[in-house]
Amino acid sequence: MSESPAVFDVSTTPEVLKKQPFLYYFRQHKRTFVVGLVCLLLTNILDALPPLLIGMAIDQISGSEGFDKMGKTLGILVLVTVLLSLFRYMWRIFWGQFHHSVAADLRIRIFNRYTDLGPDFYSTNSVGQLMSLINNDVNSFRMAIGPGILILMDALFIICIVPPLMISISPSWTWKTLILIPLIPFVIRKLMSAIRNSYKNQQDKFGEMSGISQEIVAGIRVIKSYAQELNQTRLFNSYNKRYEDACNQVAKVDSLWSPIMELGVTTGSVILLFVGAPEVMSGAVTVGSFFAFYQYIQRMIWPMTAIGLGVNFIQKGRASFDRIVNLLDKEHNVPDTGTLSVDRFDSLEVKDLTFTYPNEDKPTLSNISFTLNRGETLGLVGPIGSGKSTIIELLCRQYPVEPGKIWLNGTSIENYKKSDLMNLFSVVPQDAFLFSKKVSENIAFGMDEWNMEDIYQITKAVNMNKEIQEIPGGYEAYLGEKGVNLSGGQKQRLTLARALIRKSEVVILDDSLSAVDAHTEKQILNQLKGQLSQNGEQKKTTAVIISHRLASLRWADKILVLKDGVVEAFDHHNQLLNNSPTYKNLFHLQTEV
Ligand SMILES: Nc1ncnc2c1ncn2[C@@H]1O[C@H](COP(=O)(O)OP(=O)(O)OP(=O)(O)O)[C@@H](O)[C@H]1O
Ligand SMILES: [Mg+2]
Repeated sequence: MSESPAVFDVSTTPEVLKKQPFLYYFRQHKRTFVVGLVCLLLTNILDALPPLLIGMAIDQISGSEGFDKMGKTLGILVLVTVLLSLFRYMWRIFWGQFHHSVAADLRIRIFNRYTDLGPDFYSTNSVGQLMSLINNDVNSFRMAIGPGILILMDALFIICIVPPLMISISPSWTWKTLILIPLIPFVIRKLMSAIRNSYKNQQDKFGEMSGISQEIVAGIRVIKSYAQELNQTRLFNSYNKRYEDACNQVAKVDSLWSPIMELGVTTGSVILLFVGAPEVMSGAVTVGSFFAFYQYIQRMIWPMTAIGLGVNFIQKGRASFDRIVNLLDKEHNVPDTGTLSVDRFDSLEVKDLTFTYPNEDKPTLSNISFTLNRGETLGLVGPIGSGKSTIIELLCRQYPVEPGKIWLNGTSIENYKKSDLMNLFSVVPQDAFLFSKKVSENIAFGMDEWNMEDIYQITKAVNMNKEIQEIPGGYEAYLGEKGVNLSGGQKQRLTLARALIRKSEVVILDDSLSAVDAHTEKQILNQLKGQLSQNGEQKKTTAVIISHRLASLRWADKILVLKDGVVEAFDHHNQLLNNSPTYKNLFHLQTEV
């Protein structure tokens, strides 16, 4: 197994990171940042020397000083060039390290939120949008804090170094050629907000397009079986077009930078020819100085463009960072504030529980009360949408519940640590989900220690051992994208095996056998029943079983019948046939041939 890097504490986001991300990361990576900056400064200083040295060499050949002096000047030029390459290489290395570690830090923070947030978050954000945030937005912020800041610092250094050298040649040429410089902050201010808004819009549109493409690819079988390829392509194209329009909008604002900046500098070169040529011809200034000055004006093109580029990167990065902070600020709708530990199940008592989903008007569950004691099996039945899965969601603390409504071992459930509760309950959800891993790894998912014997035992219990052995590769076969595909019933039984192998105190099956035939379901439940009562201690494991097949729940100790979110009855099978009209109807419907 490959070793994963240590995950540092990212469960909380420091306020300074949210408010001043640049400052936060500069402080975090002080050494790399400062060394990179010093190398950049040295690069800029060295880079300013060649025009001066070449100018000197020109004057030395054209003057009386001869080739000897020029040889020395050229020697210095070679040395400067070598050092320049060295420092240029070094700042690239240090800055690369800096912005890539910033991106890694942000990704793990986002990922931590993804793993922490609850079902209400996932029901309002598509997978595509979430992928776009962790990839595109993080990358855009990286470009801002890395290349963006670097370009600005580079421009700043050049602006501090080159104009003084120009002044040393001719103060009057300097102010005449750089006359347009003060206009730059004005242009920047104008373009900055336009870039930020258009880029935010572009990222939003990208997220929407990713969302829809992800959904279409995931649902491709349904789309094909309903012959909806053309309609879905049209739908995708409408998102594609909106993204294209947003990109064009960004390009329109983006493209203004270079022409505006270059116009300023080219004007400077033309002015130099006008004001400088007569002075050179009159002999007041040497050809070498004129050459050096001209080169310096050219050098000023980059900082002018760089300011634009840097500001552009930073605006895009800030827009992305706003989206990232929006996520980092999100909390699970049920905070994990419990402090009590629990590793044994004795009793569960639900008292007069009423629950309304967020953003819904009517309660989904009303005045629900029932009890479950250690070793008992509780059946949960009721028509579609009657609230069975919702009860499980609330037991697992996926949505907030008023204190004093659900009691575990005599203590209100919010007092327990969430992780302990999750270890106490093994839930097999309604939708079977398997990872693109080996069969054995899927079954042992989340277990620290396991061996193949445990796996064989559990796959026998869910009636799947033989079927797995018949798959090419058996327990070592990969599932999903790169591997074998399983039938719906096989997937269900593997997810059941995954829950049972944990030997949790309470097993909860949410309609987990709906895709297996009645005979297999009976066999599995018999095995489960056997497991529940083995090892001397009567009915060691406790179970909650939701099923639409009433026959398979006959043996349950108690059955809760739900109808429209209300308990219609809570009794044994035989009594329910008399006192629950819903149960009676369902049972007769299912036993009629
Ligand atoms: N996240 C949600 N937000 C709003 N309403 C929801 C949400 N999840 C479920 N519901 C609604 O709550 C009601 C109960 O749903 P629940 O999934 O608990 O039913 P169920 O008894 O498990 O049904 P089934 O037998 O089909 O699995 C339904 O009307 C459903 O539309
Ligand atoms: Mg359900």
